[in-house]
Amino acid sequence: GSDTKKSDAKVLRIGTNADFAPFEFQDVDGKEYVGFDMDLARAIAKEMGYQADIQNVNFDGLIPALEAGNIDMIISGMTVTEERKQKVAFSKPYYQSGLTFVVRNDNDTIKSFKDLEGKTIAVQIGTTGANKAREIKDATVKEFNSSADTFLELKAGGVDAVVNDRPVNDYFLAQGGTKDAKTFPEILTAEDYGIAISKKNPELAKQIDEALEKLQANGEYDKIFEKWFGK
Ligand code: ARG
Repeated sequence: GSDTKKSDAKVLRIGTNADFAPFEFQDVDGKEYVGFDMDLARAIAKEMGYQADIQNVNFDGLIPALEAGNIDMIISGMTVTEERKQKVAFSKPYYQSGLTFVVRNDNDTIKSFKDLEGKTIAVQIGTTGANKAREIKDATVKEFNSSADTFLELKAGGVDAVVNDRPVNDYFLAQGGTKDAKTFPEILTAEDYGIAISKKNPELAKQIDEALEKLQANGEYDKIFEKWFGK
């Protein structure tokens, strides 16, 4: 499942966890990686004169893969956190996000973050949502390998709520999820997404920031943004 390589071009190995629509997911045939991050990563690679080679990795395996030198960068809706900054370098933030929660339509008792106390919550392993859920008093946290699985578990009645990134929750609902589930506007935490690069590769980090700035200045970033999020 990686992009076809043109001859000659240097290859940029891009790690992602392609289960996080609309940022990174597989198209209907499962042949191509699509989404906001995927378009942005390809534009950045092109800008830097690289061929993009996208590799799909479990979310909690991304930083280890970067540290092991198996990939050159991570773009995966990854929140810039102090904890992660101990291990990796981040580009300038490229997307403002935050956490929200989703419950089933038939749930009339959970309306605010506070109401999640004592409840059972599904999260994706290794995410900021998982950390946040664990802070909730008396909550039981069930961890899943993918975001899709957290929504399935909610629908199946195995959990009371899903805690995940707002744009991902909103996209899930917009894509038919409203049959079964609903969300609330309350933002549990504001978060910024950044591209992660090895601390051993400051030159690449600089190039990525420059490419990002260029794409923001020339309108390419806005085009990609509108494609996935509207105006
Ligand atoms: N923003 C959250 C975090 O950094 C969730 C990211 C999950 N990304 C993914 N591609 N599954 O922890």
